[in-house]
Amino acid sequence: MRITGTGHASMRIDTAAGSILCDPWVNPAFFASWFPFPDNSQLDWDRLGDVDYLYVSHLHRDHFDAKNLKQHISKKATVLLPEYPTSQLEDELRELGFTKFFKTRSNEVHELDGGLKVMIQALISPTDGPIGDSSLWVEHDGIRVLNQNDARPSDLTTFAELGHVHAHLLQFSGAIWYPMVYELPQNAKTAFGKQKRDRQFDRTWRYINDLKASHVFPIAGPPCFLDDELWQFNDIHGDEGNIFPDQSVFMSEYAKVGGTNGVVLLPGSVSELTEHSIDTSHPTDVDEFFANKQQHLEEMRERKRPIIEAEKASWRHPEIDVLGELKKRIEPLLEESLFMANGVGGPVRFDLTDSFGSGGEVVESIVVDFPGKQVRPYADEKVRYRFKTGRALIEHLIHIDEGDWVNSLFLSCRFSAARIGQYNEFVYSFFKCLSEERLQYAEGWYDEHERSVDAEDTVIGDWNVQRRCPHLKADLSRFGVLDGNTLTCQLHGWKFDLPSGRCLTSVGHKIRAEKS
Ligand code: FES
Repeated sequence: MRITGTGHASMRIDTAAGSILCDPWVNPAFFASWFPFPDNSQLDWDRLGDVDYLYVSHLHRDHFDAKNLKQHISKKATVLLPEYPTSQLEDELRELGFTKFFKTRSNEVHELDGGLKVMIQALISPTDGPIGDSSLWVEHDGIRVLNQNDARPSDLTTFAELGHVHAHLLQFSGAIWYPMVYELPQNAKTAFGKQKRDRQFDRTWRYINDLKASHVFPIAGPPCFLDDELWQFNDIHGDEGNIFPDQSVFMSEYAKVGGTNGVVLLPGSVSELTEHSIDTSHPTDVDEFFANKQQHLEEMRERKRPIIEAEKASWRHPEIDVLGELKKRIEPLLEESLFMANGVGGPVRFDLTDSFGSGGEVVESIVVDFPGKQVRPYADEKVRYRFKTGRALIEHLIHIDEGDWVNSLFLSCRFSAARIGQYNEFVYSFFKCLSEERLQYAEGWYDEHERSVDAEDTVIGDWNVQRRCPHLKADLSRFGVLDGNTLTCQLHGWKFDLPSGRCLTSVGHKIRAEKS
């Protein structure tokens, strides 16, 4: 089996029974904020795109690159489709010209022509990616590969049960706006960033340990930020709170915990994998490449500047009545939202500036009033969350009728945020559900989730605790770490105060716990 690195979370898997191209991302995503690093735009995408199967793990734009899919990926390819609750991924791929779909069932092994076996695990909670994220398992001729991607299953048992995995490709770096965009003193931001960075690595070690594959490939990030306004997010400034460590940092951290089987793929690297060996060749020396990271980034910034400028020129639509349009689109959804609207529980304010981010003058302040089920001008009230971003970005979201502001505005990091109290996952879940189909699905999911009583307990230290994490049901007998009376679930790092049962990370999500 051959694995060719094609950048970020993308790879091409070649077997004697067919080839699979995964997540071919090249063009900038999220308001031209994220670019793949190292640059993969020089690869021969027509050749790479001439494949038997295409796998797009989910709709996040650093995985689903409509332009590249349209221009370079063979429409003769059969799409291996994850089993998602909404048809949006299939619909968007059909619009790009794909016509052949193999609809997988989650956690079921499918045998394709020539004995190629695949299994896709689809994660479908409102907090999994853009309502859906997935991993692809492939087996041919006794060789097994898990492209876990950036999916976060509670454990990897389903894959481990299918036999020893030879190549495990998984995320290790950050892919979020926290804590950088929060309006916090720099020392607090660094401390939160450092915690987040440590947690990301801990989670990665846990998954690696779960599967014990022969070889481990750090993939799915980090992106790079080439716009001058976002340049500080690249991990080149010696900031220990930066959440975007790269593959070379992964290798040294992995070595510290005893890892000796890491393999870094640059775009164009090729790993030939057999049951007992791996032979990887690279287009350039990997260590030298990362030693010169800053220079590569600076050169890339110059090359991509015209692309960023062209994108920026397309965002302004001053003729749009932002308040009127948001009223029209969001108020009906507020009416229908029970769980998410209650979960947010207060007004959320958007300060809109005359720039493309949080800088510049505020020209309009709008409140999405969740309890009042209204979108209206800000009225000097106390709000739960405040976002500050360019009016042009909101104009553009309205212009393109974007139903997922996480997969566009929030991941762009072109905003700042302030909040009173804890993180509130419902705020972000709501703004990724700005369509009837998504809203209905998410509301139904929360409804079911609330009703399901997790009866099973586990013992952690001297506490009897409900076995499944109130966040996304990770097994706390494996992911729970006790420090005094605080339990941390290491899957996403949520914390719980056991004596009161209170979740310290987000509103709601009480845990059942009793001293034994
Ligand atoms: S499942 Fe997310 S923190 Fe436990």
